[in-house]
Amino acid sequence: MRFGLWILLFCAFIVYTWFVYAQCDTSCKAPHPSGKELAGWQLWQSRNCQVCHQLYGLGGFMGPDLTNTASERGKGARYMSGIIKYGTGRMPNFHLSDSEVNNLVSFLTWVDKSGKNRVPPEFVTWTGNYNISN
Ligand code: HEC
Repeated sequence: MRFGLWILLFCAFIVYTWFVYAQCDTSCKAPHPSGKELAGWQLWQSRNCQVCHQLYGLGGFMGPDLTNTASERGKGARYMSGIIKYGTGRMPNFHLSDSEVNNLVSFLTWVDKSGKNRVPPEFVTWTGNYNISN
């Protein structure tokens, strides 16, 4: 009898695992990074952008989260290049070359394809909680 319960739990685990991972088709996976994107990723790390910025909510909080800046309304590649190239009053100018700026923008555009940082409003229930499983 007890053995039957273990079998049942094991089967439930397998079915649930399949169910959770089968949901994630290509739409929720970013493609492998290209050379430019990898170069941008390296700059992101060597210049320590994460000290002030977050990706997926992780990182410093002096600047905004950059996960989805590439697809944010009114922002995007040209907007990001300008800020990265010249800095702002609060963000330093790193004196990067145009190709380095382009690589960083490619990297951030690639990150944007990997998913959404903020919970879309349609998933937030009336209680203020959210359910991202459906
Ligand atoms: C010393 C902290 C700091 C560092 C380091 C830093 N930033 Fe920023 N960044 C900021 C702040 C603050 C802002 C917001 C602009 C403002 O209000 O002046 C910003 C804005 C931005 C924006 C525009 C975001 C938006 O939604 O408007 C981008 C893109 C950006 N930074 C990219 C980078 C990249 C790439 C690096 C690394 C090369 C970097 N930042 C390093 C502080 C920083």
